[in-house]
Amino acid sequence: MRLPMLRFVIAAALLAVFILNLSSKHLRPVFGSTNYAGKVLEPTRGSNDARRVVRGHFGSIGDELLGGRPAPNSKAAGGNTPYSLLSKSMHLLSGGKYEEIEGVEAVWQAPPTGAPRRGVMFIAHGCNHGAIDWWPSSPSCPQCIGLPEELNLTLHCLLRGYAVVAVSSAARRASRCWQSIFGGGGDPWDYNQGSSPVDWMRVRRVLDVVLPREGLSSLPLFALGASSGGAFALGLPLVMPGRFSGLGVQIMGGPPGLLQRYRTLNQSAPWPPTLFVHMPRDTNLAQLVTENIRELQDGNVRTREIRVRPQPLTPLYLTQRCAPEVDEQTSRELYDALKAAGYLDARDYLRFNPRSQHGGGWRGILKEAGLAGLERLRLQPEVSPIAEELNLLYAGHELCSETTTDMLDWFEGVMGS
Ligand SMILES: *[C@@H]1O[C@H](CO)[C@@H](O)[C@H](O)[C@H]1NC(C)=O
Ligand SMILES: *[C@@H]1O[C@H](CO)[C@@H](O)[C@H](O)[C@H]1NC(C)=O
Repeated sequence: MRLPMLRFVIAAALLAVFILNLSSKHLRPVFGSTNYAGKVLEPTRGSNDARRVVRGHFGSIGDELLGGRPAPNSKAAGGNTPYSLLSKSMHLLSGGKYEEIEGVEAVWQAPPTGAPRRGVMFIAHGCNHGAIDWWPSSPSCPQCIGLPEELNLTLHCLLRGYAVVAVSSAARRASRCWQSIFGGGGDPWDYNQGSSPVDWMRVRRVLDVVLPREGLSSLPLFALGASSGGAFALGLPLVMPGRFSGLGVQIMGGPPGLLQRYRTLNQSAPWPPTLFVHMPRDTNLAQLVTENIRELQDGNVRTREIRVRPQPLTPLYLTQRCAPEVDEQTSRELYDALKAAGYLDARDYLRFNPRSQHGGGWRGILKEAGLAGLERLRLQPEVSPIAEELNLLYAGHELCSETTTDMLDWFEGVMGS
């Protein structure tokens, strides 16, 4: 891809994320799971035809994107039962500890006793989110709000033996985004020259305090970020060269030339193996990710790509992910209401982007249907489990926990080889 074209793609991708976040005053913004993700080890190049099919953003049966059959619900997610590992294991997440470390908001938890200690996962949220999204409210984190994809990701990291450390971006009032790696200016970051990479410095400080204090310093350190947090994760090696053993970047990419820039800063420490999890429905971002992967591969960095595709809503889907807030009966009723209103297609894929008001908007449909107990459900943008899950099913731009096991398998595989 030639440079002007690439610039255009990046600008378009950023604009899309910006607009999504802006227009989400009443809809929860973007952010992301997928055992049912299509998996490719090599980035596909020039396969834009398939993507163009979904430009209209209406998931219809003919869509290439929905390709083939829906993936079965994973065993961890409960299979065909209403109970997922997550809904049965919420108590394990009550150890999330809220702390302000030198003025920086962080929530962290060590793996349960008896679990192996394999590593530390630093987590960077997306815009409009924070560290408190990754644990349920508990005595050690009363302010935690527990969103389903975040909770499931935390849970599966802990069970696998990873300590999880989530930090909030400095911006806590308006966008709540991270400082942008795209706005890094012409100079490479040199943290010795002052505090310009503020968010990165804050994270470094938190890790420097928490890891030695909790006896976690000798474990390999990984980073996972989504959307704004994904770009942030790609900036971490510049500020902490040689410190990370792997980066998980969801629904985001980085500016071209990043690896080169890094190498001018540090020739000795390798760039960490990097996994991209993205949603091909977002064609601009898919292109940016392809470019990033090419650049990293050309620089002999190990990469992997996982594509998260739309999936159908099932009657049990919401209770498997949002219990106890959504019980089995409510889950079935939610499905029935959306089905009856024509919000789902014949195969139960969402026909409309849940962040839009198309098709009457799912919130309107639920109100109209007079769903019992609707007032108990969190429906407001930013804090709604149902909104997050519908976004994930639509697979436009959302955090995804389903890829957690694949991510950890891959990290452990590349470390061992
Ligand atoms: C949670 O994450 C696991 C591991 O990646 C995945 O298998 C599962 O589908 C996810 N969702 C739920 C609800 O368990
Ligand atoms: C590069 O990174 C390594 C590992 O963190 C570090 O030991 C070394 O001092 C760094 N070099 C420069 C020039 O910053």
